[in-house]
Amino acid sequence: MRLVQLTDTHLFADPGADLGGCRPELGLQRVCDALSRAPAPDAVLLTGDLTHDGSDAGYRRIREALEPLAPEVLVIPGNHDDPQRMLGHFGQGPVRWVTHRVLGEWQLILLNTACDDWSGGRVGSAQRQALEGCLASNPDRPALIALHHQPVSIGAPWLDAIGLSDGEALLQALGRYPQVQAAVWGHVHQAYDAWHGSVRLLATPATSLQFTPASVSFAVDDQPPGYRWLELGPDGAISSGVERVG
Ligand SMILES: [Fe+2]
Repeated sequence: MRLVQLTDTHLFADPGADLGGCRPELGLQRVCDALSRAPAPDAVLLTGDLTHDGSDAGYRRIREALEPLAPEVLVIPGNHDDPQRMLGHFGQGPVRWVTHRVLGEWQLILLNTACDDWSGGRVGSAQRQALEGCLASNPDRPALIALHHQPVSIGAPWLDAIGLSDGEALLQALGRYPQVQAAVWGHVHQAYDAWHGSVRLLATPATSLQFTPASVSFAVDDQPPGYRWLELGPDGAISSGVERVG
């Protein structure tokens, strides 16, 4: 099964809007053009910050851009999104916000880590319990966890200060279920690929603005937008890579 992860599209109501010297609308367009020439995915995952301003117009254009890419597109909110508006736009249909989805042999568990009062994230005990319930009742399905905020330090202090406040508890929970193969996220606008025990931890470049890896304070990188592909084998094997769209 082939999955494509997009993240941090950051669209505005105004398609001509600029974000730190980049045009999010153009970045998304370039990534979608590249995907139309790449092997077709079974599903697309969009891991938050769909819009920068929580606008209805932004969400409508996300739907129009992503719907043609795959039979189904799964979305979760990021810190810049408006979760209530997202429910209105993505409560049903081929571009959807769901919490659990079985795809082939795999299960995807999608977390909402956005907080009302902070640009960092939190899973929370209720959601962690639901996650564990899901994993306990599907022990034989390899699992991929998707969220917006990073559960570990990525070595960029300004971003680590707005990561997941309960990342350690999440990773401990994941470690109790051997079928968990990987966690993927956005938020950091850069690529990351590491292991926590037997769980592969993956972050993905934004389709919009790029942040400079290992920077102490906010810094924009001149790398082009990108996306991540994941090939998920029926036995739980993963191969994955990042493609930049120059
Ligand atoms: Fe973002």
